[in-house]
Amino acid sequence: MCGIVGFIGHKNAKDVVLNGLTRLEYRGYDSAGLSLYNQRYQIFDVYKDEGRVAKLVESTKHADFSTIGIGHTRWATHGKVNKENSHPHYSQTRRFIVVHNGVIENYQELKDQYLHNHVFQSETDTEVIAQLIETFSQTLHVENAITTTLKLLHGSYALLVLDSNDPEKIYAAKYKSPLILGVGSDGITIASDLMALVGYSSDYHALDDKTFIVARKDDVRLFNLDHQPLDLHLKKIELDDAVTTKGEYAHYMLKEIHEQPSVIRRILTNYYDKDIVQIKPEILSAIKDADRLYILAAGTSMHAGLIGKQLFEKLCEIPVEVHIASEFAYQKPLLSKKPLFILVTQSGETADLRACLVDLNERGFETLTITNVPTSTLAREATYSIELFAGPEIAVASTKAYVAQVSVLTILAYELSQKPFDLHTELSKAAISIENFLASENIREIVRHYLTRRNAFFIGRGLDYFIGLEAALKLKEISYIQTEGFAAGELKHGTIALIEDSTPVIALISDPKMSPNTRSNLKEVQARGAKTFKIVLESCKIEGDEVIIDDVYSLLTPLVMVVPTQLIAYYAALERAYDIDKPRNLAKSVTVE
Ligand code: F6R
Repeated sequence: MCGIVGFIGHKNAKDVVLNGLTRLEYRGYDSAGLSLYNQRYQIFDVYKDEGRVAKLVESTKHADFSTIGIGHTRWATHGKVNKENSHPHYSQTRRFIVVHNGVIENYQELKDQYLHNHVFQSETDTEVIAQLIETFSQTLHVENAITTTLKLLHGSYALLVLDSNDPEKIYAAKYKSPLILGVGSDGITIASDLMALVGYSSDYHALDDKTFIVARKDDVRLFNLDHQPLDLHLKKIELDDAVTTKGEYAHYMLKEIHEQPSVIRRILTNYYDKDIVQIKPEILSAIKDADRLYILAAGTSMHAGLIGKQLFEKLCEIPVEVHIASEFAYQKPLLSKKPLFILVTQSGETADLRACLVDLNERGFETLTITNVPTSTLAREATYSIELFAGPEIAVASTKAYVAQVSVLTILAYELSQKPFDLHTELSKAAISIENFLASENIREIVRHYLTRRNAFFIGRGLDYFIGLEAALKLKEISYIQTEGFAAGELKHGTIALIEDSTPVIALISDPKMSPNTRSNLKEVQARGAKTFKIVLESCKIEGDEVIIDDVYSLLTPLVMVVPTQLIAYYAALERAYDIDKPRNLAKSVTVE
């Protein structure tokens, strides 16, 4: 997590860095900081405090013009959320200033071995980096002091370093945490995510691990850690400002929920050319030839994986296991003879998944990453990768990426199946069904009436059970209501003990076969005082059902059933006046294990 941005060039670095940090705030928002060169005193000033980038914008209002600067927005790992632990950090004499995204696992050992006489200002692992560079710079050229330090670090880092003795350069380096170099006519920008580069750089280069950079106003050089030069491979930046702003919506989350029909259509456009699927044949062969698929993911993406399992098993009879990445990384199940590993990830940077991928690569297995960020680490390091085309997802709570993941998994499974229906038509119908629902939804009133307690349950059977898991995650993460998703029939085996007067229980019903069973489970909880309401597909509807969604093809119901649950979470958080796009304790891109 954490976002870093640095700029050196011909305009005010403060503007570039602060704008970039604002766009990267989804990565962490415990504190924010910035360092700019002060020409008068010939030092780098450091501004930092706990709180959001907006506060930093205020506190740097009167900062002098500087054509060089680095900034940071933090998701705390080592040390409390306070000013001292905010980045940038500096070395003992304040010669070196550092911002860092990642975790230095051996920072205590490094302190003990090299820095026992040093006074530390913070509890962070990052400060060790600044102190080590300064220590080594007493005998080595600064570039060697930095690479010597980098070689000692265990863990992960994306780093920007300033040297007060040479304020014409930004040094940068990367290992495991993402870092993108942007080049434009106004200068060089280096940031954790492409989004921070939009408007400032025309081209970018996604850095590989163990790259060390020396950037000046009009020139940038790349090296490996042994100081051998590396090539710069620039690609055009194709994002524009419209996709990174909220537009007419009050929150990114609401915007992203409303974008879902167009995400499905964009996926169809990108994956099909006149009915011919645009997926590399070797990817389809890798899936077809596998005797078992292992879907690895975390959180919402794992919930999309659970739907993926149903699709592959039902449409093409390939057995599938779905694993939580953080568990799979260190506790592998017995693997089949010819497995294929599918990593599902919005960000493409999730550290738990990276831990799985590093191990799978070392063992020579084939892997496929399905991600929204084609420049991401997991896209680049897997055998194959394909894109979600959801557009940047900025709200911390994932919505449109889930719908994109389910859509892309559907396309993969469909292309290997007997094609029992017309996918293009059915996915288009799903997009229309979502649009119709969004145009007439009354979720806010329902939320006001039903979600009055500190807890809630979603229940469902079959595919609806998996939607219930996702619905529960969404509701708890942004409204802080303790929520569980349950297989409807399982409640009576223990959890029903939690049902009290007015406990909200929301039933998801999209399969006519299972509708009577789920409805009788509702009766059981009603008899114990629960306040219940139902989200149902048109073909399952009976009088009194509260939320009705247009019918879609049976295997595509997750795409539409999830949408009301996203709005339930949204309005529950809105009613409580919580920070919807940046819920407490969270960050969008989870780059620590
Ligand atoms: C929940 C949410 C998270 C992510 C999870 C995996 O709304 O967004 O649960 O799904 O952290 O992230 P990615 O998909 O980037 O690997």
